Formats: sequence, C-alpha cells, structure tokens
Amino acid sequence: MTMGTIDERYLRYRQSLQQFGQSHLLTYWEELTDPQRQRLLDDLDQVDFARCAELIDPYVRNRPVIPLPERIEPVPALPAEPDAGRVGFYAKAVEVGTTAINGGQVAAFTVAGGQGTRLGYDGPKGAFPASPVRSACLFRLFAEFLLGTQRRHGACPRWFIMTSQANHTETVALFEEHSYFGLSHDRVRFFRQGQMPAFMPDGRLALADRHRLALSPDGHGGSLRALAASGALDEMRACGVEYISYFQVDNPLVKAIDPLFIGLHALTGSEMSSKAVTKADDLERVGNFCLADGKVAVIEYSDLPDELALQKNADGSRRFDAGSIAIHVLSRKFVEKLTGRGATLELPWHRAEKRASVLNEAGQKVEPNEPNVVKLELFVFDAIPLAHNPLVLYTRREEEFSPVKNAEGVDSAVTARRDMVRRAARWLEACGCRVPRDAAGEPATDLEINPAYALDADDLRSQLTTLPVIRPGCPLLLGGE
Ligand code: UD1
Repeated sequence: MTMGTIDERYLRYRQSLQQFGQSHLLTYWEELTDPQRQRLLDDLDQVDFARCAELIDPYVRNRPVIPLPERIEPVPALPAEPDAGRVGFYAKAVEVGTTAINGGQVAAFTVAGGQGTRLGYDGPKGAFPASPVRSACLFRLFAEFLLGTQRRHGACPRWFIMTSQANHTETVALFEEHSYFGLSHDRVRFFRQGQMPAFMPDGRLALADRHRLALSPDGHGGSLRALAASGALDEMRACGVEYISYFQVDNPLVKAIDPLFIGLHALTGSEMSSKAVTKADDLERVGNFCLADGKVAVIEYSDLPDELALQKNADGSRRFDAGSIAIHVLSRKFVEKLTGRGATLELPWHRAEKRASVLNEAGQKVEPNEPNVVKLELFVFDAIPLAHNPLVLYTRREEEFSPVKNAEGVDSAVTARRDMVRRAARWLEACGCRVPRDAAGEPATDLEINPAYALDADDLRSQLTTLPVIRPGCPLLLGGE
C-alpha cells in the first residue's frame, strides 16, 4: 500500500476501507495537512485489514468463550538440581550447552516491546535503572551478562532485541549513547514488533487523533512473526544460530544464556523449553505450567480457576506449583516451521478491554474512566503446545527471577534490588566472604556483582584473587566502576 502519491494511496484506501466497514478512518481527510495525511496513510499501512475483519466478530463484538481444557493436570518438570539418577544427564547437558554456546549456535533474544504502563516509567523499560549500587539499567545488565559469557565461552552470543514502534528509536539511541554497553555493534540486532489497532466495541477501529490510528504492540507472541518478517530469523540461520534464548526485558536476574537449559533442550529434542519456579503463593500472578488435555501449556493466573490454584497434594504441597517466569529456549527451526512460507502461525488472540484516549463521534479526544476499547494480543507461550517434546525445567527463584513490573510493592524496583543484593551476598558467602547482616538477617550494605565479572557463584570463586572485606553501610561493587 505504501506505493504511489498521497492521492493515489488515499483513493485506494477510500475503496478498501469501505469494503471493510472502516471508512470513518478517513472522516477528517479534507481538513488534514499533507504531513498529517502522510502520517495517517503510514498508520493505515501498519494494519492488515483483511486479518482484522476476521477477528472483529469473534473477538471484538463478542467476548470469545474460550473453554478451559477438559483435563488440567500438573506438568512433569525437571528439577533445578539433578536427583541422584540425573547427575550424569545434567552434566552431559552442561557439556552440550557449552559446546553450542562456544560454537555461536545460541543467540539471546529479549522482548522489549511492551508499554510498561504498570511501572509508570517514561521510556523504554530496558532503560530503567535497576541495579543496587550503580543503578545500571536493565539493558546494561543483559549486555554485561553477554560480556561475561564471552569471557567464559570465548564467543559473544548475538543479541536480538524486539522493540515496538513506540520505543524503537529511543531504544537504539540508548545503545548508541552508551556505546552498546561494551558490546560490539555487530552483535546486536534490533527489530520492531507488529502493531494491532485498538477497536471500539462495535468493531470499528479507534482513532487516536484525526490523523492517527490508535495502534499498540501485538503482544510478545508477535515476536515469532516479527523474527521472520524482520529478516532476523534468516540472519540467525545464515550465521549458524540453532537456539534462541528468549527472555523478557523486566527481569534483571535472568541468566540470559544458560548452558544447562540449552543443553537439556538440545538433548531431549525439545522445540520449545521453559523455566519454571515454585510459585510464591497459590494465586501468584504468573502463568501456570499445566498439562492441558495432555499437552504442556501455560494457563495465565487469571484463567486458572481458583479451585485448581488452591488444590493441594496429599503431602500438603501445591498441586499446580510450576509458575512461568517467561524464559524459554526455542529452536530456530521451530520458529521457521511456525512462520515460514506456507505456514500459518495459529496462535490464539487474547482479548483485553482497556482504557485509551481516542476520538469520540464528535471528533473530540476523550480520557475515559472505564475501558472503552478492545485490544488483541498474542502470547508467546501459546506456541508451547505446538512444539515437539516441550520441556519444563525448574529453577531457583532467588537465583533467577525478580521482575520489575510495578511502581511499588511486589515485583517492583525495590524488590528487584533487594533480590540482587541478596543473591550477591549468597555468592560472596559461598566464596568464603563474611557478609555482615542486620537484625532482620538482610545484608547490612548494598552489594552488586557486574555480570561481566561473574555469572554465578562458581564463576565468582574463580575470579576473586582476594576476599573483599564488606563493612556495614559501605556499598560494594565487584567488576567495574
Ligand atoms: C508475563 C506472563 C506471565 C509470566 C510473567 C513472568 C503474559 C500474558 N504473562 O506477565 O505468564 O508469569 O510475565 O514475569 O505475558 N512485551 C512485548 N511486546 C508486547 C507485550 C509485551 O515485547 O506487545 C514484553 C514486555 O516488554 C515484557 C514482557 O513482554 O518484557 C511481559 O509483558 P507483560 O505484559 O508485562 O507480562 P506480565 O503480565 O508481566
């Protein structure tokens, strides 16, 4: 649609929008300036109207009734630490994962297209200052993890970062400004995710302004399509990447590249693997790994009936205990299979009623108090049931999961910093350091370990030449200024 003069494009849209019952999008055409007309046409180019037309009846005008699976059972998952029978298997997996990383077969992939509304932070979430001593931003921590991986494995994994239309330019500018946080530019590849329009309840697309559609990211499930559409997937194939290490931008504790996890994925022939943690409480707001009619799947906390979420085993333990921390390994070939020529990626759409500042019938902007639009999103974990042999591996929450989601309270900057300090203290103590603690048992000062310096407790042990002396109230940073 981008071809042609403004007038030609307008005429084409006038016709096609009429067909799709969306002519109102051109209501203000006559009063727009040329740059505004251009802007509106560019927004229209972002929308696949034929695809939207199919979604309007089932998802917008009507609330889809998505039946729960008939059988919901706990998922079989591998333990974080190998039991006696699996020691050799886990050791082999670390070996296989290490070989894949050393050989450049593993790429890191961060989904960073979300809007971060809950955090209330103005800017790309990856720019959020997260670490306790340096206030290093999330992107810096991930970059340093990759530098640490390069130190340990000899090769620096490529890093693919999915942005959105709203934060792409700012994200790239942040990396430029900080010299790619020490990474070589050619290891980092940004691409934008797709957008979906916001719909009014009657199925018409909403206008954010007289010359702007109300568009928003199409959900992290859009990452699969965006990997293909941006050419990133082709680049991965061309440079020999077999495994995509997927994680969200909001978790500063993530092991961006984990030899054990990658090795287990490869050894078991899994096409999509996932990490789980023991849930903090029955109703924790995380996805639940389940066997849904016999297939591994994630059921969001909002969809799992409380009656199941509260169920206990005979020994009193939680029956549905495997919480999703949104860390996955996907085989590149699996993503190709889902998105390649002739394939129709069939992930289900999730409907959300949201508040959005859009134009009303009179052409005035309204700031609603109640949800006024319907947004549709894809979730990446809906690809798990489509994968061959999907694997779930438990990991330890305190080592690997403390997301920055909310402005305060649980999963906030405060809890993430606290958990970074606690983890650093544990690693230092494992190396024989004395960490002074306060009356509540918390480390008596802020501690931070640059991931480029040490990736885990064993790594730290091999890096330390002398044991640091830690004094209450004197923050300590290891590795970097
Ligand atoms: C998500 C998962 C939940 C999991 C939890 C772990 C969903 C629906 N739920 O919850 O199962 O337990 O994380 O922390 O995802 N993103 C994009 N593009 C988008 C939308 C989101 O890149 O269009 C990215 C965000 O930047 C963020 C991540 O996806 O990195 C998570 O999105 P968010 O909406 O915050 O998910 P949660 O509700 O926190």
